[in-house]
Amino acid sequence: MKIPTELIDEVRSQVNILDIVSQKVQLHKSGKNWFGFCPFHSETSPSFSVNEQKQIFNCFSCHRGGNVYKFIMETEGLTFPEAFVKVAELGNIHLDSRYTQLNSLDASESSENGKILNLYQQANQLYHHILMNTELGQDALDYLHQRGMSEQLIEEFQLGYAPANDILKNFIKEKHLDYQLLRKSGLFIERNQSAEEPLDNLSDRFKERILFPIRNENGHPIAFSGRTLNQEDKNIPKYLNSPETSIFNKRRVLFNLDKAKASIRQNKTVILFEGFMDVISAYQAGIKNGVASMGTSLTDEQVQILGNRANVLKICYDGDDPGQNATKRALEMLSTNPNFDLEVVKLPDKLDPDEVIKKYGVTEFERIISSQYETPINFYLEFYAQGRNLDNENDQLDYIADILKELVNIKDPIERDLYLNRLASRFGIEYQNLAAQLQTLITENQVQNSPEPTSEDQKFKKYQQTVSTLTDNFNSTNKYSKVESAERLLLYRCLNDHSVWTKLHEIENFNFIHEEYQTIYTIAEGYFNQYDEFDSARFIDYIKDDKLQSSLTNLEMEEYLGDATDQEIEDCIHLILTEYPLDEKLKKIELQINQAKRINDNHKLMSLIMEKTNLLRQKDEMKLTSM
Ligand code: CTP
Ligand code: MN
Repeated sequence: MKIPTELIDEVRSQVNILDIVSQKVQLHKSGKNWFGFCPFHSETSPSFSVNEQKQIFNCFSCHRGGNVYKFIMETEGLTFPEAFVKVAELGNIHLDSRYTQLNSLDASESSENGKILNLYQQANQLYHHILMNTELGQDALDYLHQRGMSEQLIEEFQLGYAPANDILKNFIKEKHLDYQLLRKSGLFIERNQSAEEPLDNLSDRFKERILFPIRNENGHPIAFSGRTLNQEDKNIPKYLNSPETSIFNKRRVLFNLDKAKASIRQNKTVILFEGFMDVISAYQAGIKNGVASMGTSLTDEQVQILGNRANVLKICYDGDDPGQNATKRALEMLSTNPNFDLEVVKLPDKLDPDEVIKKYGVTEFERIISSQYETPINFYLEFYAQGRNLDNENDQLDYIADILKELVNIKDPIERDLYLNRLASRFGIEYQNLAAQLQTLITENQVQNSPEPTSEDQKFKKYQQTVSTLTDNFNSTNKYSKVESAERLLLYRCLNDHSVWTKLHEIENFNFIHEEYQTIYTIAEGYFNQYDEFDSARFIDYIKDDKLQSSLTNLEMEEYLGDATDQEIEDCIHLILTEYPLDEKLKKIELQINQAKRINDNHKLMSLIMEKTNLLRQKDEMKLTSM
């Protein structure tokens, strides 16, 4: 189905790209543009920017760029029609149902991922139904109730139960789905390859497990984690997760992010839990900004996703030893990320959050979360004391060495001093000795890597610096050759200033040297036949080609000062024309000569032949000079 251009224009012009991008990326204004960390890759300084006036975004590092539709396509992995519907939704713009159908999962038959998503949706419904309404699910439902989960909560998280038989396989049999699709979905395991009926090779992956659907950021189930009901048999893993598929990348997914994102944004704080049950229990207790990584250590990608949404990250892992070790790992991986303030929540009695709620109640848990947290260094002070006898001198020395290593990461000298004083008085050591030792460590560390500032002030300064070098990069043309800079300036001017466009059009045989600029120039001709005004966001849709869209956005982000002057334009044209490769010119003239011959335009033919002779002479001259 084709969406009318007018409608595409209308939806695009009714939303503000800034609103939509800032739902996913934290932006700060500098000059005309807004800057932030690119959502498409990990980075430590912001190279992603949005120009509100032009309604475009661009990343200087990965070169992705485009308008609001492109942004949604890229961040959510949608096709253009799907992104169109999504943008309308985000802008509260009512669309005719024949368009909105595009996004209902059943209808996105087009892509394989759409089909897999659809399959998960159906599987989720089936498993949920079994849990809630059937005899098969009764034990599981009892178990969840006994763990304190309300019916409403089970509904909200759409928990399910997978019984012992191949219920999913039998359910989808009717639907005659493609065998390869079923294989790729990860919902089945393949047994033998020999059966005549291909479906007989498959068996449900999840059996006799309570299923926690794992949803993507938009709330669509993309995987399951299944908890066994069998508490005794230690050979059965407690949790079984879906394998990675084309829609499920463990490194990028955070359990519950879809429900938590509003609260994270509001509080600028995210709470990281270890387990799904912890997230759900906290949610029931009214703490809605909790997420969990997928039963593995926190990944760079997850940190990046959270960094775009929150300023404070609270780690609330289990109080037992594995939980504390996991906290240390998370702190270590986050220590190189200056975007967060880190807090470690201390849970009593080696319990996990779910158990704390059960044992001490919701109010106490809320109190712990909001007030019983410590700085990373305080966490380490306790962590390194574990398993050591701090009355023993050897243990003391090891302990102090461990703590000093952590103090190296504190950049605020006052804070560092505070801990040094504490260590000194606790172990009866001279402050000066400790300080000297720390200084040695700091110097060693500086040699290894330049330090990352951590205090707010420094963080901000660093940010400002990056932004300003970025803005300089913008304006400087030295990353392009002289002639390419001229091409860019000229193309920019002729798109944005119609008098330049007209002027350039009067020059016969004008060509940009680089193909991408020439192609954009040619496409612009069609565009200006339809529209009087240049509008980058609209032109991006007109261009259609992904690469060209990005290079146009990149060009549009240049901040050329002032208006075009005649001199500037003439200089550019001159530069381009003289640099235009002779061979290209000759080829072109050859074509024109043939054409002139065909239509018997002798006058034209004469002048072309003269021009050709001229070019050939130039070429000879160049050969001579280069010898
Ligand atoms: N996990 C896993 N595989 C296991 C055990 C745990 O993937 N065999 C992951 C799950 O994501 C789980 C998290 O690690 O949510 C934390 O594990 P654990 O603390 O053992 O689970 P709980 O959340 O406490 O689960 P429950 O309270 O149901 O025992
Ligand atoms: Mn638990």
